[in-house]
Amino acid sequence: MTIMDPYPTYAHLRTEAPVYRYTPDGMAGGDLWLVTRYADVRAALADPRLAKHPRHAPRRLLDLGVFTADGAGPAGVSMLFADPPDHTRLRRLVTRAFTRRRVAALRPRIEQITDTLLAEIAQAEIAQNGRAGIDLIAALAFPLPITVICELLGVPVADREDFREWSRALISPPLTDAGRAVREQAGRSLAGYIRDLIAVTRQVVVDAADDAAAADEQPDLVSALIVAADEHDQLSEDEIVGMINLLLVAGHETTVNLIGNGMLALLRHPDQAALLRARPELLPTAVEELLRYDSPVERATIRFATEDVDIGGTTVPAGSVVSLALASANHDPTRFRDGAHLDITRTDHGHVAFGHGIHHCLGAPLARLEGEIAIGALVRRFPDLTLAVPPDALRRQCGGPLSTLRGVAELPVRLSRG
Ligand code: HEM
Repeated sequence: MTIMDPYPTYAHLRTEAPVYRYTPDGMAGGDLWLVTRYADVRAALADPRLAKHPRHAPRRLLDLGVFTADGAGPAGVSMLFADPPDHTRLRRLVTRAFTRRRVAALRPRIEQITDTLLAEIAQAEIAQNGRAGIDLIAALAFPLPITVICELLGVPVADREDFREWSRALISPPLTDAGRAVREQAGRSLAGYIRDLIAVTRQVVVDAADDAAAADEQPDLVSALIVAADEHDQLSEDEIVGMINLLLVAGHETTVNLIGNGMLALLRHPDQAALLRARPELLPTAVEELLRYDSPVERATIRFATEDVDIGGTTVPAGSVVSLALASANHDPTRFRDGAHLDITRTDHGHVAFGHGIHHCLGAPLARLEGEIAIGALVRRFPDLTLAVPPDALRRQCGGPLSTLRGVAELPVRLSRG
């Protein structure tokens, strides 16, 4: 399957082998069931027999060091890899802290950060006289979400390059001893940092106890989590570390790809970019369509069949590893008319880019807000934006056979037609 364009392969699989068993490179002796049709993917995302906790993982995956059987990744325990009732408890607590009100209040700050980054982009193009092109990933798609999530959590922005490095190592499942060592070290560094952050924040929360406020009134998410956890006495230190780690990693790696893949799609479809400029009220539907058209998370995190499960007429035996191809489901022509076609006026919504069921993305409102602000501002401010290299020259980000993300490593653009 080519990394640059997996969609033709997915189209083939949807008709010929919609629940396809294969052995990815590097997973010697281990196979995976890849599900590609919309109806099957959506049903499987909500199927409690497909568990997330690594205690259900086959031995060979544990041997590869992807997980430990107790569910602790290198940086704590995460709800993304938990099942009810633990998942329910963890998710309820973070929802108390990460409210829609908290996200909506971020709008002016996200707009301000975007404006600053766009001004720097304009300056950079003047300085280099349009020769090399500006990399939109380095100049906007990466710094915007990581700045926002660091501010939301109360993490000093000066540490963001460290986070970038650690989280890159953590999202790439290691299939070699060297990869495993790098990942474990990154996990330890991140966990150590988060523990220090919690200790400092807890002290501030304790000092302010006189005017104790509810979780959603706390100035940052780490304080809010500490208050929510203490109020309900339901969160272990490892679980707070895991939660903050998950928010940090999930909170920026994916949104980088929404902005990167979304802008790439618009640059390759100038008619759609022009339409968006002419009708800015289409921005929310355009972002939904960009999420569908080239989904930032290509495949959901793997599931484990706890019993024999029928998926689309195929029996997936107990103990199997199941991968749900969100990007394929989002192109399924039985669900989306002309699914391979980008159409920002599309009215058949219901993509699964944020997953579905109990693990549906907790950060979806924030991701949508960041996507709308960044993509809207780029299209408005730089009407002559073009790709500075042929699309085939772009390098796709790929983290290995179990990797779930899809994005471009760089996106060089020119601000004006030369
Ligand atoms: C879960 C996609 C941004 C936090 C998920 C899942 C998907 C997803 C597909 C479910 C994975 C599965 O079922 O295996 C995305 C996309 C994003 C994005 C496409 C950006 C465009 C964010 C942001 C945050 C976030 C900004 C937080 C600040 C989470 C969390 C979960 C999650 C905490 C786990 C929820 C659970 O297990 O109950 N995301 N995400 N995501 N996402 Fe996002």
